[in-house]
Formats: sequence, C-alpha cells, structure tokens
Amino acid sequence: MTLRHFLSLDDLGADGIHRIIDNAIALKRKPPRQAPLAGRTLAMLFEKASTRTRVSFEAGMAQLGGHALFLSPQDTQIGRGEPVEDTARVLSRMVDVVMIRNHSHETLERFAAYSSVPVINGLTDRLHPCQVLADLQTFKEHRGDIAGRTVAWIGDGNNMCHSYLLAARLLDFDLRIATPEGYGPNPQILKTCGERAVICDDASHAADGADLVLTDVWASMGDEDDREVRLADFANYQVNKALMSWAKDDALFMHCLPAHRGEEVSAEVIDGPNSVVWDEAENRLHAQKALLLDLLAAH
Ligand code: CP
Ligand code: NVA
Repeated sequence: MTLRHFLSLDDLGADGIHRIIDNAIALKRKPPRQAPLAGRTLAMLFEKASTRTRVSFEAGMAQLGGHALFLSPQDTQIGRGEPVEDTARVLSRMVDVVMIRNHSHETLERFAAYSSVPVINGLTDRLHPCQVLADLQTFKEHRGDIAGRTVAWIGDGNNMCHSYLLAARLLDFDLRIATPEGYGPNPQILKTCGERAVICDDASHAADGADLVLTDVWASMGDEDDREVRLADFANYQVNKALMSWAKDDALFMHCLPAHRGEEVSAEVIDGPNSVVWDEAENRLHAQKALLLDLLAAH
C-alpha cells in the first residue's frame, strides 16, 4: 500500500476531496456494519487545546472498531525534548496512523518525513485541512456542488483562510477575502490560488452576493498575546446581520468553532437561520472517518 499523508488539501487533490466528501455523506447515512478498523490504532499528538478534533477522531476510531490514543507534550517525552524524527519512527512501529495538532507546520512536515504510517494534520499555524473537509461536506449537503460559487472569508488571514485558498483552487470556487491591514493571508499561499482569490478592501465587498460567509476567531491559538490589539484592529470585521444582508438571502454561515459571540460573529448570526455551524461541527466526525478509511485503504 502506498504511504499517503494528509498534511494539506493538496495531498488529496480535487478527486480525493470529492471522494472523501461523498464517502463521508454515505457513512453519515449508513454506518458500516462491520468494524473496518478493528485492531488499528490512531495516535493523536496535541500540542494545543481541542474539543472537536479530539472528540471526533477518538469517537470516529471507536465507531470504526479501532482505538485512539491521546498524547500531550506534558505526559510524553516530546515535552522533554525527544526529537520529532525519533518520535515519528517509534510511533510508526506501534500504531497505524498519527494525527498531529501543533504550532509549527514545519514540525509536522518533519514528523511526516520520518513516519512510515499516514500522518494527518489536525491543525497547524499554517493549515487546518480536516476542518475544511467537514465544511465542504456541509456545503454539499445543504447546497450541492461548491464549484462556481462565491465564498467570503471575513477576519483573520489565518490557517483556516489558507486552507480555503487551497480549496478554492482545487474545487473551482471564488474566494473573496476581507481582513484588516496587516492580517492578510500568507502571500505565497495566496499566489498559488491565482484568480480564484480576490482581496477586498472591506467586508461588505467580500460578502456581496456570497453563497457562503465564513469567519474564525480574531486571535488563533498562539496569537493570544495580541488579543487586545486584535480586538481593536478587527472591529469592522464582525459578521453580523448588516454584513449578512450583503450576501445572498440563502447564504450559509459557517465558523469552525470555538466562537466568540460579540467579537467575530454576532449571536443573531451564529444562532440564526443561515448558520449551519452544528452540522459543520458534526461533520468533522463523518469526514474524518472517511479520511481514516481512505488513508488506511480499509473501505
Ligand atoms: N474546529 C476545531 O478544530 O475545533 P477544536 O479546536 O475544538 O478541535
Ligand atoms: N484559527 C483557529 C482555529 C481553531 C480551531 C486557531 O488556530 O486557533
């Protein structure tokens, strides 16, 4: 079996993303009768906090008949400085697949280079591809194919925004991005998206006629020291009813969660009729089950 990692949406390509989404929708409708991952173990390395990622991977493995191990730096030798390359080689001898959530994307890549089992990106400072798989599944369930649609990203040009840039290029939708000055996405990632991405000078231009409006926290994990400055800098970038009125009447609202009501999104939007955030969160479970089965070629 060829070793495949999932560090970025590019590792799946457009065909792979469509395959995972379709399998996720099928698994959600009809869970497998047997235990396709019986005897298989997922190691989950968390350097940062998580609710959805941890629970969805752990519950997903259990539902597929496998087992998941939660590992944090506090109670493993990783926190005491064992080299990532050594940890990768050791875990590869014991488990079947590894999921990593850590600060540095570069560290994730180093781990993957030394791993002989599939490695999944559970979020880095650069990308959050598992979340975007769940988002794409959610869009398909509610509105069908995302190709040719307009998606608005409002707020920070962060790991979620970067993953949407890759998704726009791969799945042929238009991404309009509105960020405060100095908080735009990584220029190299933006460039790879070509004409599919447009940077807008204000949030209403990005939301104008959009089929999907997205936001995320103003201070991601690791950016908390800047929180007060960010609250001021992002003040005009809240997704509220006035901003949603620029989008199509049936535009969906998504947020990867956790959300801060009254900051990046108003309560009336996240708890309102256009919001699909609970489906989006649930779909982490289904999309990742499909991903695990795909990477372990167990369907
Ligand atoms: N959206 C997301 O990844 O949530 P957690 O940080 O709770 O895992
Ligand atoms: N951009 C956020 C996503 C949290 C799921 C962060 O990195 O903290």
